[in-house]
Amino acid sequence: IVTPVILSGGSGTRLWPLSRKSYPKQFTQLVGETSLFQASALRLTGQDGAGALSFGAPAVLTNADFRFIVTEQLTEVGIDPGPVLIEPEGKNTAPAVLAAALYLAAKDPEAVMLVAPSDHVVPDAGAFRDAVARGMEAVRAGQLVTFGITPDRPETGYGYLSLGTKPDGSGGATPLEGFVEKPDLANAQTMLEAGTYLWNAGIFLFAARDIIAAFEAHAPTLIAPVRTAVEQAEADLGFLRLDPTAWAGVEDISLDYAVMERADNLSVVPYSGGWSDLGSWTAVHELSNPDADGVATSGDVTAIECRNSLLRSEVPGLELVGLGVENLVAVAMPDAVLVADASRAQDVKLAVTALKQKG
Ligand code: GDD
Ligand code: MG
Repeated sequence: IVTPVILSGGSGTRLWPLSRKSYPKQFTQLVGETSLFQASALRLTGQDGAGALSFGAPAVLTNADFRFIVTEQLTEVGIDPGPVLIEPEGKNTAPAVLAAALYLAAKDPEAVMLVAPSDHVVPDAGAFRDAVARGMEAVRAGQLVTFGITPDRPETGYGYLSLGTKPDGSGGATPLEGFVEKPDLANAQTMLEAGTYLWNAGIFLFAARDIIAAFEAHAPTLIAPVRTAVEQAEADLGFLRLDPTAWAGVEDISLDYAVMERADNLSVVPYSGGWSDLGSWTAVHELSNPDADGVATSGDVTAIECRNSLLRSEVPGLELVGLGVENLVAVAMPDAVLVADASRAQDVKLAVTALKQKG
């Protein structure tokens, strides 16, 4: 049995104004019929189709504000929530994953974790779970398994997995030579051209015991405070609130920097079934079935002679009309409207910063 561990902490400022601090993108219906969080939970528990592996109830790591959204959204799609661990404050992915590992290992020393974000789009859930199944042999051999995506641009926002050779096409797990988190552009370009690197999907499969050992070896200072936070966690209406005092002393660091860049027992399972971390409106645009002119709409929208644009009205009854616009992103919410040049999609976080300064 594999326990899905769903990370649901971030707020995704590049998808403002839909994604808010109080209601981040993973809980919204950005693409498809369910929220990203619900789609992730269905995919990671195997409840949306058959597969070779069986999955336990998902463990969720989130903050206090989202705890009820989490259980509500799981129940809505027929999933019994597993443990919901509440982080008193966001300390990035390394402490969150370590807390889950310590918690699960205490219950079952053989626990295997499938760690995944709640805001990715993976259209073919069956193919994804086949890839997870292909990773299990490596997990049994004590490996930390990552999933690799074929890169198509020199993206600097991702981790790069070094295979040493070109992928052999078998789809099986191969040992990794190295892991480079968020390279600069020149380095990303070199790795893209080499053809021997895959993007890190940010999804991990390992035994709880092995990731704890990796923390002991590569990030030992995290162990004591995170262990205390888990051991002194307080049960609160069925949620488990990590001890705030211990948690306050935990370093803020990602799993990629804390462990993955340093470990030598990494394997990668290549995955070619389609993946997007839905990091920007450009990604949403691509996944929203644009018409022949490249126009994608959602809600009460009328587009007249537009091209390559994403037009969304998130307010029922609020009619958004695009007339003769090109390369535009427009998103209307009840209290805010974004109108942006499509090429500036990565900069939407600037809007959030500017509004924050305005107070
Ligand atoms: N519960 C919880 N608590 N979740 C968190 C926290 C936290 O403190 N911090 C981040 N997360 C969640 C985010 O919501 C997101 O879904 C996921 O963990 C990854 O965090 P990001 O902050 O989005 O990481 P990134 O995009 O910079 O980089 C990671 O993902 C890339 C692929 O999308 C790395 O793993 C890269 O190597 C990878 O390529
Ligand atoms: Mg991300």
